[in-house]
Amino acid sequence: MLKAFDFVIFGGAGDLALRKLLPGLYRAYRNDELPSGTRILGICRREKQVADYQQNIRAAAQEHLRPDEFDGEAWDTFAQCIIPVFLNIDEQDEHWKNLADLLNAGNEQRVFYLATPPGVFGVCCKNLSDVGLITPTSRVVVEKPLGYDLQTAEEINSQIAEYFDERSIFRIDHYLGKETVQNLLALRFTNSIFENLWDAKSIDHVQISISETVGLEGRASFYDDAGALRDMVQNHLLQLLCLVAMESPNKLTADSIRSEKLKVLESLRPLKGDAVKWHTIRGQYVAGEVGGKKVPGYLEELGNDKSTTETFVAIRAHIDNWRWANVPFYLRTGKRMRRRAAEIVIQYKDVSHRVYPSAAGTLEPNRLVIRLQPEESIQIIVTSKNLEKHETELLPVALNLNFAETYKHFVSDAYKRLMLDAAADDPSLFIHRNEVAAAWSWIDPIIEAWQRPENRPLPYPAGSWGPEASQELLSGDERSWFNIDELLERGKS
Ligand code: BG6
Repeated sequence: MLKAFDFVIFGGAGDLALRKLLPGLYRAYRNDELPSGTRILGICRREKQVADYQQNIRAAAQEHLRPDEFDGEAWDTFAQCIIPVFLNIDEQDEHWKNLADLLNAGNEQRVFYLATPPGVFGVCCKNLSDVGLITPTSRVVVEKPLGYDLQTAEEINSQIAEYFDERSIFRIDHYLGKETVQNLLALRFTNSIFENLWDAKSIDHVQISISETVGLEGRASFYDDAGALRDMVQNHLLQLLCLVAMESPNKLTADSIRSEKLKVLESLRPLKGDAVKWHTIRGQYVAGEVGGKKVPGYLEELGNDKSTTETFVAIRAHIDNWRWANVPFYLRTGKRMRRRAAEIVIQYKDVSHRVYPSAAGTLEPNRLVIRLQPEESIQIIVTSKNLEKHETELLPVALNLNFAETYKHFVSDAYKRLMLDAAADDPSLFIHRNEVAAAWSWIDPIIEAWQRPENRPLPYPAGSWGPEASQELLSGDERSWFNIDELLERGKS
């Protein structure tokens, strides 16, 4: 049973706290998942933020929770456990002592959530240690970006490791907190129909795609330094790839799961030098239309017409091991794309011999489509006969498991899940230092090759599916990016 804990948010008045962390904790409270006596400390850098804290977090919660979730009275009761605390992480002054007094009078279980730029992780841990706040029941949660490349990631990890042991460091990747992502493990490791068909003998290729319709969202300076490869591929996409490709862990323990994921990362075929040009596509959006609204291009939104930061990436990756020999994993992510969707598509091989005449229609391969958002569903695309026609007509149809229909009260909230796991000291869904290093080791040579002039990002109109070259990456392999609407539409016409 989860014991009451103290949850300290550095960056307590920041965007992440307001949009995700506090609404997530409120959901936990409403679900009776917050033990009574739990306290949430919001660390604010300015005195004014302390004064306005309760008012601001309430307004933000109202904005970011669904109207049927936000209840003013319930929020006010919940908010009694929230304490704004004035403290500047960089200043080694009496405010740290005040924080220590507050925490020493509170719960034994402590979670320090560093929702701050990574540049202050080290000093924050040092100051916590200097006032004796790091105890055997303290944990630290760190947000991405964990570094800019392998070297900076190692530096950050080493700084934190001076004060917390690896077992108490919770590196968050919120994609791992999505219920459908965890369901992927359940699906794979409890259903023989999938696990027996989960290798190069049966699978033609895998697609992992996260498309977003948003642009810079007021994060211009962070994003322009990072770009899509660092912001999305190094973490979210590679983590999804690990869950699809890993071997079964022998137990459901953090060590066992993480070591299987690490083996996948270490088996990724390196992309270096000229190979980068053949296996990766970079894009940058130009003005276009998203959801019927005209939107400016990346450079205009940024206010800098020289930037060569990519807002789109597509990659053909290979995992060099027995299970996945010669099975391409196509990864794709982009901002300002046609539709918001995150999905994993497992495409099976064609049947070995076609018995139906070609007049019966095209035979679509079987696909397992795991949709993480916007709705959470699992579909299996199979070929079936059109029952309304006398002559044989073969059509693709979807066997559909829509979680929103099955679980009517389910509200997806990855942050809530991960915060509670950190409070319960369960690191299974957090990332080990070695995984971070292995992911950067694969990403770094791609970034290096992208410095060559021939690898500048290709333009794509906002509201499209990315640069044409991304389609060609697959069409060159006689494959195409999966689009369920188009497929089912084609089936009907
Ligand atoms: C974050 C990235 O990690 O994930 C953002 O920094 C991105 O750029 C976000 O928009 C996407 O998360 P989700 O859960 O909305 O798909």
